[in-house]
Amino acid sequence: MFGDPYNFDEYVERRNTDSFKWDMVIYNYGDDVIPAWVADMDFKSPQTVVDQLKRRIEHGIFGYTFRSTDYYNAIIQWYKKRYDAKINKEWIVNGPGVVPMLSFLINSLTQPGDKIIIQPPVYPPFFRVVLNNGRQLVENRLVKRDGRWQMDYDDLEKLIDNRTKMIIISNPHNPVGRVWSEEELRKLYDIALKHGLIIISDEIHADIIYKPNQFTTMLKIGTENVVILNSPGKTFNIAGLTNSYGVIPDKRLRVAYKNYLESLELLTGNVLSLEALKAAYKSEDWVDQLVEYLKSNRDFAYGFITKNLPLTKLTLPEGTYLMWIDCSKLKIENPQRYFLEHARVYLNDGQEFGDPQAVRLNFACPRTLLEEILRRLKGAYEKALTIEHFNLPDERYEICRKIRYYVFVKGQSIDEKLEQDGKDNEAVHFLCKHFSEYVATARIRDIGTHWKVERVAVLEEYRGMGYGKKIMETIEEYIKTTNPKPIVLNAQLEVRDFYEKLGYEAISDIFIEAGIQHVKMEKRTF
Ligand SMILES: Cc1ncc(COP(=O)(O)O)c(C=O)c1O
Repeated sequence: MFGDPYNFDEYVERRNTDSFKWDMVIYNYGDDVIPAWVADMDFKSPQTVVDQLKRRIEHGIFGYTFRSTDYYNAIIQWYKKRYDAKINKEWIVNGPGVVPMLSFLINSLTQPGDKIIIQPPVYPPFFRVVLNNGRQLVENRLVKRDGRWQMDYDDLEKLIDNRTKMIIISNPHNPVGRVWSEEELRKLYDIALKHGLIIISDEIHADIIYKPNQFTTMLKIGTENVVILNSPGKTFNIAGLTNSYGVIPDKRLRVAYKNYLESLELLTGNVLSLEALKAAYKSEDWVDQLVEYLKSNRDFAYGFITKNLPLTKLTLPEGTYLMWIDCSKLKIENPQRYFLEHARVYLNDGQEFGDPQAVRLNFACPRTLLEEILRRLKGAYEKALTIEHFNLPDERYEICRKIRYYVFVKGQSIDEKLEQDGKDNEAVHFLCKHFSEYVATARIRDIGTHWKVERVAVLEEYRGMGYGKKIMETIEEYIKTTNPKPIVLNAQLEVRDFYEKLGYEAISDIFIEAGIQHVKMEKRTF
């Protein structure tokens, strides 16, 4: 299916190349930190792009530029081939980057004090370009429904008034990775049209789409009041060449934008960026393989984080090489700083996107580097788990009782009196804390021939995340190092499998205790 394979596994040293992603982080935080933040990739651009740049450099003259028919045709062809959209040459406008173009569009198409809508959590410059240009920022936050990020159309309609002039969308959406469907875009377009809003659709991530998802450019929905922004910067890792383009079919908007650009005297571009775009937009095969590689990184990172950092919540990105990780259940003030300090991995801080409890991971790097990043994140996550043991009196005992109350009295309707144990002072108590939350407890007592494990309780919202296993392992370790002998416990029937997996065997018939079926189990390791 593909031509020559490309080597995305190659590790390319980026330190000391004036890389924002690498050198800024190293400068500020040290050489041991791995950056996984700003959206550029740790892969080389396609060789065809590099060769074209070399040829142009060899020419030796780098005077003012003129964008040729070849340049415009490259863009027209790309939209045709990759997004099945027909654009006319005269619709294309230029700029020195998608973000600067956003700022120019705001200035040329709206007035100071006008309202502009964005959809957080979203790419931080969307906030800045609105606020720094003296416009009012209006947040139409995305909502997570049925585990999928969605636009909130009802909220959107409510937010619009006669000062609202523009909405800026990200498609695919950075950071949540949604590839907006035709139907979703049409709904948005209809609302915008009804209220006379200009839609700016930032499509810079449009080439990084994972099947079966399909990218729909806003141009295919409608052309009235629509502005598309794009650049080969993300796809071909040439963002540092600072070039971008827009597609504005609507003449009134296009003329206003072009006049504004003229007023800034920003009419010529960077000569190398023009060569790069022309060569890049011939490298379809490279993009197809890049997306395959990124898809496998995406699946790997998603599987790893889901399994090893189960308190975090994430959705599988449909597009982009960015993963949005909700850390709210860790209940820590600043997850980005936590992972910087404890994992030595630099992620994007969700605060800048409008959600301080999230971080954004960039997985566009060789697999070995991604593995190291994830291994470090796992280490930092596990480091926050402690299991302490103590005897009475100890103030931690009240916390153990509270957990048992939630699990047994509230959760299983067991009589509260049964929860009171006059002999708790003869037991050793275990308390498991992860980040700032107490999540599980258990107690053990020496009954002569055996140790008896009792009242293993994991709070409901923390079940299925390995805490039960961790607490049992800690108990066994304690027994092994203090007074090794077999362990017995009365397991509720529904957790029999769990204990069997840990090496316990049933040694009794089923019996009823506190109205619940139990079975006595034993482990004779010691
Ligand atoms: C949604 C979005 N728009 C724009 C950009 C940057 O565009 P440019 O470098 O052309 O200003 C990024 C980079 O991360 C992005 O994610």
